[in-house]
Amino acid sequence: MRALSGIQPTGRFHWGNYFGAIRQYIELQDKADESFYFIANLHALTTVRDAEQLRQNTLDAAIDLLALGLNPKKAVLFVQSDVPEVSELCWLLMTMTNMGLLERCHAYKDKKAKGITADVGLFAYPVLMAADILIYDSDVVPVGEDQNQHIEVARDLAGSFNHLFGETFVLPKAYILSDSAKVAGTDGGSKMSKSYGNTIDVFESAKDVKKKIMRITTDSRPVEEPKDPETDHLFQLYSLFASPEQKQAMAETYRKGGFGYGLVKKELADLAERHFAEPRERRIKLETQSDEVRDVLAAGAAKARKKAAEVLLRAQTACGVK
Ligand code: ADP
Ligand code: TRP
Repeated sequence: MRALSGIQPTGRFHWGNYFGAIRQYIELQDKADESFYFIANLHALTTVRDAEQLRQNTLDAAIDLLALGLNPKKAVLFVQSDVPEVSELCWLLMTMTNMGLLERCHAYKDKKAKGITADVGLFAYPVLMAADILIYDSDVVPVGEDQNQHIEVARDLAGSFNHLFGETFVLPKAYILSDSAKVAGTDGGSKMSKSYGNTIDVFESAKDVKKKIMRITTDSRPVEEPKDPETDHLFQLYSLFASPEQKQAMAETYRKGGFGYGLVKKELADLAERHFAEPRERRIKLETQSDEVRDVLAAGAAKARKKAAEVLLRAQTACGVK
């Protein structure tokens, strides 16, 4: 079984990225026979239009992933654009992609609904993502809930191609964990996202993290009133870091009532600080080792290209351009 995922270098990673996606990458590097993870700089180009910024974000993303526990001895880590075969496969897939399929995709649909003119890159974004997935014969794709639709597109395109030209691609499946499929934002909104300005970054200073936690929106019901933990976003965030016992004890506190949200926030801040203490140390060291990090990415790209060239040739032969 091969696991594969990509993450855009559009800024620093937040808790949603970590619990929704990155934590699964790390878990799967031990469980899967092979795992491939890449930094999706070609996708990021649809939003980041500053060359130096994109280069810096890409290196930062690699450092963050390594600091969080991605192990290059177990997983192949590389940069998307270092495998040009992907862009070639993207074209083959585009020639058989129905416009309607892409018109229904959220990223494009949402932008259009807001009256913003979208470019072709944003429209074709899911096809490039399908090429990313199919070119490595990927079986499982760990992502957050919001990417599910894109994995469906990849399956659809693989199915159409196989139907037209014979068995060529493996049909991929999304790998989504229910308890972290959608991490709530600090504003109580349903999704933590850079676009909503409601994030807590993984590598923000402990002091800033604490400040943001203390500002998490809560309701103004009286302290003594019993509360339902299941519908509370603060409880959801707490649960991401808590052990099953801690989670159960906190749920009981909610149901009994007689507690202030300040207490939950303080415990959350302590757990979060402990959770990221080691990665934080590792990150400080990795920051001074950018040449080694670049070497890891180059070695990863060489491995990824080998697999990509094999699958691209298979697809080219199947459809008659080779
Ligand atoms: P953002 O919405 O902040 O721009 P991205 O779209 O770059 O984040 O997401 C990168 C990865 O993190 C994807 O796999 C996505 O599904 C996951 N992810 C992002 N936000 C969340 C969230 N709030 N909960 C769960 N997963 C998330
Ligand atoms: N679109 C994904 C995101 O925004 C990033 C991505 C690009 C990706 N290619 C991929 C994820 C292939 C999984 C598989 O998060």
